Amino acid sequence: MDGNFNENDISRVVEADRAHIWHHLSQHKPYETTDPRIIVEGKGMKVWDQKGKEHLDAVSGGVWTVNVGYGRERIANAVRDQLVKLNYFAGSAGSIPGAMFAERLIEKMPGLSRVYYCNSGSEANEKAFKMVRQIAHKRYGGKKHKVLYRERDYHGTTISALSAGGQDERNAQYGPFTPGFVRVPHCLEYRAFEQEGAPQENYGVWAADQIEKVILAEGPDTVGGLCLEPVTAGGGVITPPDGYWERVQEICHKYDILLHIDEVVCGVGRTGTWFGYQHYGIQPDMVTMAKGVASGYAAIACLVTNEKVFDMFKDDASDPLNYFRDISTFGGCTAGPAAALENLSIIEEEGLLDNTTEQGAYMLDCLGGLMDKHKIIGQVRGKGLFLGAELVEDRDTRKPVDERLAQAVVADCMQQGVIIGVTNRSLPGKNNTLCFSPALIASKDDIDHICDAVDGALSRVFG
Ligand SMILES: Cc1ncc(COP(=O)(O)O)c(C=O)c1O
Repeated sequence: MDGNFNENDISRVVEADRAHIWHHLSQHKPYETTDPRIIVEGKGMKVWDQKGKEHLDAVSGGVWTVNVGYGRERIANAVRDQLVKLNYFAGSAGSIPGAMFAERLIEKMPGLSRVYYCNSGSEANEKAFKMVRQIAHKRYGGKKHKVLYRERDYHGTTISALSAGGQDERNAQYGPFTPGFVRVPHCLEYRAFEQEGAPQENYGVWAADQIEKVILAEGPDTVGGLCLEPVTAGGGVITPPDGYWERVQEICHKYDILLHIDEVVCGVGRTGTWFGYQHYGIQPDMVTMAKGVASGYAAIACLVTNEKVFDMFKDDASDPLNYFRDISTFGGCTAGPAAALENLSIIEEEGLLDNTTEQGAYMLDCLGGLMDKHKIIGQVRGKGLFLGAELVEDRDTRKPVDERLAQAVVADCMQQGVIIGVTNRSLPGKNNTLCFSPALIASKDDIDHICDAVDGALSRVFG
């Protein structure tokens, strides 16, 4: 640490935090007797807390965000320079970093052409839902407005984003939800046996066919959009089964349904390609992204569409309502695209996509090695540096471990100075997947360090 805080300062910070901060995703009762954790500084893959304890961060800021690692001065400098020149103007006007980042981004997304800036993943998804509804009103008398979403996926925290949320425990107590959102079954092959009628062979095609079933039951003329994560994150790190995406794309074309891919986690390198969907040869109509776009150096989210979608909002200039009548005040902040430009350059210059593929494969192997040793691991899965290990009491029945035990593994790793994650208040009885998403700069040594910590934790918690 750089010594800017002495012991006294830090205890004052801890007390201010305890007295006034409402932490995200946290039960606060324990803070009456233990100190809240304050993260003071970060560099590369590491962060230091208020006690000066060093941690290796295997979850990129807790929620898959700090893709290029901590302490990147060139991003900070670019943001500073931009803020001094122009910090803000509403997004009805353009900005230099906004235009330049959009151009660089679109180069990475063949077939897409328009970037709509906002602040968070939830907000970007809301924009996409609004577009589906407005298109329905313009073209289909309001009828083709429904958005399909998938069991176990998550698209954000606002009420309508939760309405598209496939995680029942996360949604509990926040209803009633927005009408017009309809659930389709998950595609986690490891748990196919829990799905009625799921076959042993060609599971991916079957899982996609379940989407078609829902469309037919709802009426294709009522369904405007299908919103899916390319690799499901908080719902259990679910890599899609073979054959799934090809069929999904076919179904969207068949029923004239806009394919909206939520790349809030996978976007900008996490899986070893610029975007997760690019592994599967599909062509979405809308893509949303947030976390890794500027690696958390500034708040930025984007909804990217193709020209077909964009054109639907300008095809009748005589209609005063015929444009996307939406604004995001802070979507006009220039710090976001200024940081995102540097973030993108770092990924390119340091070859971080290749590193992600290489180290991701190595980590999958290491986790596979742990699976040979610890029978509590039922499956390891993932893509690039986005990996999960599902813990089960019994490999035959695949009964999930008690989530308190999964959390004990995370706590043990934390004790060892390694921060890992676990699916959290997501699915009732199924918060049993350990999550790993180290920064894209992770080295073999970092991965060994993470896997050694998990090995020790599993031995201590499960024997
Ligand atoms: C797949 C996915 N979509 C959307 C969101 C919401 O993003 P935000 O928290 O920036 O609103 C998240 C957040 O974890 C996410 O994992």
